[in-house]
Amino acid sequence: MIKVASSVLAADFTKLGEEIKSVGKSDYLHFDVMDGTFVPNISFGIPVLRSVRKATKMTLDVHLMITTPSRFIAKFAEAGADIITFHVEAEEQENIIKTIDHIHKMGKKAGLSISPATPVKAVLPYIELLDMVLVMTVEPGYGGQRFIRKTLPKISLLRGVIDGRGINCDLEVDGGINLKTAKLCVNAGANVLVAGVDIFNSADRSAKIEKLRNV
Ligand code: DX5
Ligand code: ZN
Repeated sequence: MIKVASSVLAADFTKLGEEIKSVGKSDYLHFDVMDGTFVPNISFGIPVLRSVRKATKMTLDVHLMITTPSRFIAKFAEAGADIITFHVEAEEQENIIKTIDHIHKMGKKAGLSISPATPVKAVLPYIELLDMVLVMTVEPGYGGQRFIRKTLPKISLLRGVIDGRGINCDLEVDGGINLKTAKLCVNAGANVLVAGVDIFNSADRSAKIEKLRNV
């Protein structure tokens, strides 16, 4: 079963409540947090998440693109995140397990993400502890970029490990996802598709979500 996560980064923030309702058919609402340090861009953070939490019962899939994410786990959990994913490149190696445990202790699901240049082996030591692995299919930092095909073998490799070891872990892809690239990712083994521009630029967002789910 494929899940679709609509990325709020592509929404019109002057009418965020309506925008969120318009993608209510998606399984998750994907919430990109950028700090201008880990990535060369700034998006939105805790107060906005708190408002989004009040506006919807959807599962909030929070993607932290911030340096030393361990500092902010409690704050994002309290603000209403359901899934908290952080980047393996952004945290001290010795803190990664502690950070995953902290997310779980806050009653949330934990994800770990890898940027396009980061090999799969960077997440393998933690995979049994995770609820989700997020493979970035663009360089993190901006919506509306072109899908990087070289990331596909990483998705296949992770699918092999997850199924081979019988681990209950979702495999999410994020960046440049449209009907064509979604198909490539699903064939490679992804089961959660994040899409921003492709959904928000569609005249019929519900229909686009349904099509993505059934690629
Ligand atoms: C990029 C973000 C993505 C972004 C995807 O750094 O992590 O979630 O919103 O946007 P699209 O689907 O437009 O490439
Ligand atoms: Zn994202």
